[in-house]
Amino acid sequence: MSAHTLGGESAVSDSILIVDFGSQVTQLIARRVREAGVYSEIAPFTQAEAAFHRMRPKGIILSGSPASVPEDGSPRAPQMLFEAGVPILGICYGQQVMSHQLGGEVKPGHETGEGGEFGRAFLTVTAECALFNGLWDVGERHQVWMSHGDKVTQFAPGFEIVATSDGAPFAVIADEARKFYGTQFHPEVVHTPDGARLIANFVRHVCGLKGDWTMAEFRQTKIAEIRAQVGDKRVICGLSGGVDSAVAAVLIHEAIGDQLTCVFVDHGLMRMNEAEQVVTLFRDHYNIPLVHVEAEALFLGGLAGLTDPEAKRKFIGKTFIDVFEAEAKKVGGADFLAQGTLYPDVIESVSFTGGPSVTIKSHHNVGGLPERMNMQLVEPLRELFKDEVRDLGRELGLPDAFVGRHPFPGPGLAIRIPGEVTKERCDILRKADAVYLEEIRNAGLYDAIWQAFAVLLPVKTVGVMGDGRTYDSVCALRAVTSTDGMTADVFPFDAGFLTRVATRIVNEVKGINRVVYDYTSKPPGTIEWE
Ligand code: XMP
Repeated sequence: MSAHTLGGESAVSDSILIVDFGSQVTQLIARRVREAGVYSEIAPFTQAEAAFHRMRPKGIILSGSPASVPEDGSPRAPQMLFEAGVPILGICYGQQVMSHQLGGEVKPGHETGEGGEFGRAFLTVTAECALFNGLWDVGERHQVWMSHGDKVTQFAPGFEIVATSDGAPFAVIADEARKFYGTQFHPEVVHTPDGARLIANFVRHVCGLKGDWTMAEFRQTKIAEIRAQVGDKRVICGLSGGVDSAVAAVLIHEAIGDQLTCVFVDHGLMRMNEAEQVVTLFRDHYNIPLVHVEAEALFLGGLAGLTDPEAKRKFIGKTFIDVFEAEAKKVGGADFLAQGTLYPDVIESVSFTGGPSVTIKSHHNVGGLPERMNMQLVEPLRELFKDEVRDLGRELGLPDAFVGRHPFPGPGLAIRIPGEVTKERCDILRKADAVYLEEIRNAGLYDAIWQAFAVLLPVKTVGVMGDGRTYDSVCALRAVTSTDGMTADVFPFDAGFLTRVATRIVNEVKGINRVVYDYTSKPPGTIEWE
């Protein structure tokens, strides 16, 4: 929940304020707090005091940071937060900055002579602590994830050590009287197996919040934010056929009604029946104004002769923008461009709440368009992860079958047809893909898989069908599990399933006479073939 868009009073009284010092994983803290059923807002440390007065939070979490406390000019928390009588959890840099500001000492790794501690570590619980309630007992060892160069070398008055690790004697410190806690490790990342439960302990047990906040409230908060941002201006939204842009569009439509126009550029590279489904859902089901641009000929014409993966991607990206821009102009333009950007898309971008994290790359789904058309962005899903977007979609009444769909890349089937893309090859691939997905659904495996699809290879092999020789293309099947698409494991189908799919594809899809299964994880492979 961004701290600066609501403008007036915060909509939720039982909330947690997350003070962002620019860590790449601050959003994970927000996610864990949401998972514990509690509303939170992230505020950059420079705006934390104002956010505190507006929100009146029941607890505060101080994030990690790429900065170093002993360094001149490194960020500090507003001192008043420590005097507000509200529980505080400091994570990594948050622990260090709290220790420093309350009279303790933090030293850079090189001065302590011990260097930092990065990756998996084990701590030992040395005293009881409210954070560990029902979870960790004295004397136990637990796995945590550390990533720090500096460390607290002397804690502030009132604190005691409640857990230690080899590299961080002050792995967890606590001042139970003030309800201040500091962890040197990162409880928000999945590599700290009990991390989510530690954060839940903080927000529920320590801060006393009930944990009854829901996606329904997220929806209401976002609607208020969108109205405040857009006013009476016009918004245009590119629908890709995927879940993210659909959820964003439905949410924005609920907020501003007909001020939103959706544009669906059908590049002819969609899966079987996909274009019809999008048009039916938006026009008929939701009654949302939708411009359906049929641009198959334009895209396939331009793809003729292109075989280099990057050349194909660049052509599709540029053409998409050209078509979208032309359509946007036809409907009279817009002041805002809506996008279904998710948090994993922005993890490496600037800290979106305006905090001080480093820009590694800037990411646009419809790259370059906002600048070209002088539009501002509306991105209501920027804080969410894929599964949360699905929850929100269900909350908005999108059909389950639509919400649960596997991700589909913007360049569509073009990057699943290595070599030249033609209409004929798209049609062959669509059929094979539909058979594969039908079998996956019939086996009840669809939801267990992150993404499954067929790839049509530019390789012909010899086969025999009936009494005749065949000389046709090879189809590769891909299926992976993943949480965010950044890494992926191969889905372990049983041999019977793969045999069934291979037989059906070869029998039913003219043009394919051999099927192989892709057994490569990511890394070293990528999910898509191009
Ligand atoms: P890779 O192939 O890089 O894909 O492992 C990771 C995830 O991103 C999707 N993908 C894209 N999505 N535009 C998109 O909207 C693209 O150009 C694009 N390329 C890959 C891919 O399907 C997988 O979910």
